[in-house]
Amino acid sequence: MSKRVLVTAALPYANGAVHLGHMLEFIQTDVYVRARKQAGDDCVFMWADDAHGTPIETRARREGITPEALVARAYDEHRRDFDEFSIGYDIFHTTHSEENRRHAEAIFTAMEARGDVVSRDVEQLYCPHDQMFLPDRFVKGTCPKCESPDQYGDNCEKCGSTYAPTELHEPRCVVCGTAPVLRSSEHLFVPLSRHEEFLRQWLRDRAEGGHTVLQDSVRNYVMRWVDDGLRDWDISRDAPYFGFAIPGHPGKFFYVWFDAPIGYIAATDKWCADRHAGPGQCFDAYWKTTPDDTEIVHVIGKDIVYFHCLFWPAMLHAAGYTIPSRVHVHGWLTINGEKMSKSRGTFVLARTYLDHLPAEYLRYYFAAKLGGNQEDIDLSFDDFVARINADLVNKAANLASRSVKFITSRLGGTVAALPEDAAPLVARAQERLAQASGLYREFESSKAVRLAMEVAEDFNLYLTEGAPWKLAATDPGRAHAICSAGVYATQVVAAMLKPVLPGWAAAVERFLRLPTPLSFESGQPLPHGHAIGEYETLAERIKPAAIEAILEASKETMGNEANAAAAAAAAEGPAEAAAVPDYEVPALEPTVAFDRFTPIDLRVARVLACETVEGSKKLLRFTLDLGPLGQRTVFSGIARSFSEPAALVGKHVMVVANLAPRKMPFGTSEGMVLVAGDEPSLTLPLLDPQTSRPGERIT
Ligand code: 2FM
Ligand code: ZN
Repeated sequence: MSKRVLVTAALPYANGAVHLGHMLEFIQTDVYVRARKQAGDDCVFMWADDAHGTPIETRARREGITPEALVARAYDEHRRDFDEFSIGYDIFHTTHSEENRRHAEAIFTAMEARGDVVSRDVEQLYCPHDQMFLPDRFVKGTCPKCESPDQYGDNCEKCGSTYAPTELHEPRCVVCGTAPVLRSSEHLFVPLSRHEEFLRQWLRDRAEGGHTVLQDSVRNYVMRWVDDGLRDWDISRDAPYFGFAIPGHPGKFFYVWFDAPIGYIAATDKWCADRHAGPGQCFDAYWKTTPDDTEIVHVIGKDIVYFHCLFWPAMLHAAGYTIPSRVHVHGWLTINGEKMSKSRGTFVLARTYLDHLPAEYLRYYFAAKLGGNQEDIDLSFDDFVARINADLVNKAANLASRSVKFITSRLGGTVAALPEDAAPLVARAQERLAQASGLYREFESSKAVRLAMEVAEDFNLYLTEGAPWKLAATDPGRAHAICSAGVYATQVVAAMLKPVLPGWAAAVERFLRLPTPLSFESGQPLPHGHAIGEYETLAERIKPAAIEAILEASKETMGNEANAAAAAAAAEGPAEAAAVPDYEVPALEPTVAFDRFTPIDLRVARVLACETVEGSKKLLRFTLDLGPLGQRTVFSGIARSFSEPAALVGKHVMVVANLAPRKMPFGTSEGMVLVAGDEPSLTLPLLDPQTSRPGERIT
């Protein structure tokens, strides 16, 4: 058996809030880690935010803040959400850290030295306005196969075909709408085929305990990728890119997917340093050893298998780090049977859930549904309410409350020896408790939870049939013994559910005044005469109003965080996950013929002055320079969106320059300034003052 276990969950992108789809994975990982710790394994959970890449760069730009400020904000929000969900990570670090830079550079340098990095020129779409190369999902256009408009640069959601972004018809930059141009740039590649033999062997390997590195179905399709031929992996990106510069390659940055998993290593490094472990002792024991010594377990979703099962082990192998023992892949979360949807209010942020219901109810529901396979998990709110009320409230909490309250109020507050006729139930409870640890270790939490509920069912029935409250007057000894069996079951159920419900288990430890923390060894009854404390409420029925409030609040978050979270998840990731734009726009107007458009004369104008108009709350007066065409005065009804009009001076805006002059009470307006968006958050589509000249025609 390995001496140490290191577990990770996927690192959430640091540019948006996490939603219940994320929480499914984080809860699964946390339950696994808690169970292994509870089983006595030397297990740590190393985790971080994934802070680099184009989506973070562009979102920060759009918000007018630095990427550092953006990721710092997300980091705080993530930690708050994870802490309230009792995700028991040992460290939550960030990939934008010195530790990560150091390890990314070390891994790259080691790979380069062994000939694992080659360079060649790549032609790619480039946005001349944003002055950046565009990742596949930053280009939209018409599908080259089926001619559907508005498709991403990697695949068509209508006909399902995949293609290169350069094949799109009428491509557009998704950030600014400019038509991109083809540009060539040198990129660095890892020829994965050099690692084919190693990867085949790693994929086939059987680790300790009979489990394979991958679940069978996952291994089969990863093997198919290998059989189909391993492609070279492009690990570099051009500036501007929020990430780490590649040593020895000026102007090049590591692709976010190169340094993201290295975040697992960086987090470990930081954790070891924070614990003041001597150099080499702690860190090397995790990442510079063999799977026999340290078991590395990654928990991921179906969309990032390629990264974790091909690139990542190849990188670790090439650079001499510990190879993962296991990559566990889970399914997606659906809500009420469908993909999470903003309009139905089922795009539920972790925060929204926490605002209305206890975290442990969701932990329980997910754990009760998750198994060792990659099947999707449905959170149906009706089923959720029914399940929590039936299992946690009616079975487990009811068992505890009935027996503990009766002992403290009527039977002197101590436990008695268990009745002889409960012996078979006790034996069955002990058997089930003994099985739980192994089930959690195989990610079979649904089976472990089921066993715990069976213990609760057995003893609830025993209590109901024994009816100690009726016996108290006539046979207090028997009543005491029956209720003590209820206390025993409360203890065993809490021990079995402790990885899922740490707060519940802590409450049981408190009110039963347990001498040692609950564990998988908690199968022995408390000694006769042990004093217990007052019952603390463990669970209460979910009121339908709480669910309605979650759905309502999720509709309200539609416009901002929910969308951003969805967009963030996909923007630079693999093709399988669809990006959801983070704003709504009106439908397109009917098509107009080209000759209906050309009479509208659009020009570049420099703002010379911009001020509010006395007597009008709506209007701003622009004095515009149109270069050789002279100056203009333009009134624009946009004052509510621009609280500091003077800040617009010097900007280059677009004007309709041949609009018929319009007399207004405050003067004549000689044109129209173009704006984007809706009141009261209009913006001005600005032109680059370095490259556009006043008076130039915009076509
Ligand atoms: O898909 C994602 O959300 C990525 N941020 C996961 C990264 S996992 C690891 F490689 F860092
Ligand atoms: Zn652009």
